[in-house]
Amino acid sequence: MNDVEERIGYCLDWSRSNAYSRMLASLAPNQTILDVGTGTGLLAYLAVRHGAKHVHCIDKDAKALSLARSLIGDLPNVTFELCNATTYAPAPSDIQIHEILGNFPLDEHIHRIARNLRHLIPNAIELFEYEYESIIESPQGIDRDLYDPYVWEFIERMMYDHLSSIRRRCLKDHVSIGYRESNVLHTIDINADTRTPSASLIDAVNRGAMIGWRVRMGDQSYDNVPRLGNNWRVMGSYRLSSREFMNRLMGGR
Ligand SMILES: C[S@@+](CC[C@H](N)C(=O)[O-])C[C@H]1O[C@@H](n2cnc3c(N)ncnc32)[C@H](O)[C@@H]1O
Repeated sequence: MNDVEERIGYCLDWSRSNAYSRMLASLAPNQTILDVGTGTGLLAYLAVRHGAKHVHCIDKDAKALSLARSLIGDLPNVTFELCNATTYAPAPSDIQIHEILGNFPLDEHIHRIARNLRHLIPNAIELFEYEYESIIESPQGIDRDLYDPYVWEFIERMMYDHLSSIRRRCLKDHVSIGYRESNVLHTIDINADTRTPSASLIDAVNRGAMIGWRVRMGDQSYDNVPRLGNNWRVMGSYRLSSREFMNRLMGGR
């Protein structure tokens, strides 16, 4: 999978993209926004469509910024800057949004960025235990009905230049069957960077349980359980063993 295909995959993940769009519908109107790690520019686009006054997009990857410029550079109230968010000194903004979350949420060092930028949205990541009976592979097309209308508008923008990548992404899908989850075991607050594991998380790890994570943004959320149309079935990241999960939670400060 090349870089652009992977980035497109994030946008096609309807549960993730829709959650951001709905969160921005309530937060973005008339606000100045810093989009940290803009990637394709999806979040900036959604913020503008939901009425943001201005969005400044930063990314440390020049290829990402040029992709974002090609997709949303025509919007009048969006600006772009190449920089690393861990050391960046931003101009004041009302809201700082991001989706710099790796296979394990902290793998892309969002907690280090939060030490610099301090008030990132989203900040709460819930950990829970889950089980499923099986994962099946099934054909998948892009189902327009699954998407929030502004997310779909953005996908249409991508289609002009990247239709073949989008088609390749959608040939097959992995879907969990018989999924069941526990109560929240532990919540990571990335702005506070408090990671001491709760007793219930330690217990689940010791039992070798499968642990999932959910990004919580007000009343919106998305998780990394492999479901129809989300990105995680492709990444295979849900297969992290619970030991590995704990190592990643505690490591990399
Ligand atoms: C998972 S992608 C998300 C892209 C886009 N916001 C979206 O929601 O589709 C994360 C992006 O953050 C950028 N990034 C990661 N660490 C960064 C840092 N320290 N400073 C600036 N950008 C960073 C990456 O280059 C990548 O483009």
